Amino acid sequence: MSTLDTPSPIAADAQALEHLLTAEVQFRHMRDRTQADSHILTARRVHYKSELPKRVLAHLQLLRGDAEGYLVDRFEHSLQTATRAHRDGRDEEYVVCALLHDIGDSLASYNHAELAATILKPFISPANHWMLAKHNLFQGYYFFHFSGRDRHARDKYLDHALYQQTAEFCELYDGAAFDPDYDSLPLEFFEPMVHRLLEKPRYSPQELVRAMQGEKI
Ligand SMILES: [Fe+2]
Ligand SMILES: [Fe+2]
Repeated sequence: MSTLDTPSPIAADAQALEHLLTAEVQFRHMRDRTQADSHILTARRVHYKSELPKRVLAHLQLLRGDAEGYLVDRFEHSLQTATRAHRDGRDEEYVVCALLHDIGDSLASYNHAELAATILKPFISPANHWMLAKHNLFQGYYFFHFSGRDRHARDKYLDHALYQQTAEFCELYDGAAFDPDYDSLPLEFFEPMVHRLLEKPRYSPQELVRAMQGEKI
């Protein structure tokens, strides 16, 4: 065989990967899982994870539809929140947080802020994670009192380092994004940002735990 007939390592790798991405495991109980099975499952899981941005963008669009009495639906509200943050010069991570802050509304209708924070947790700073997780409590300043709740409930965090950032998110972007006459940028504008941010986790799980505990990482 001449060297010209020898498959290049790159082609061989590509072939092997293609095989793994179409292969299936043999086991029917996890106790019977083998090393070969694990190779297949790892390759397919890596591929599945790489499509997370697409799934997130598709899910965001579930917010289109019934505006539930507001002048804009949740999808337009999301675009408008992100557009306002972008036009205000916020960085890409912050803008994507603004875009996705209500993505949990469809499935976590009683705790949507936590769901957005959870989805984005591996990709964003602990500060932005905290802001997302608490944004509904902070937004409640504008309406909790209409249903007998304490509009100042957020003030239990008055001394927290992220109080100001989270209150500002609600005042400037989230709270302001209910205007049907605002010229929001289309989803296509934000799509590359979502792909870039969700391309790979920013922190390892261990680093994230340390960051959440206030350690500098
Ligand atoms: Fe929200
Ligand atoms: Fe919102």
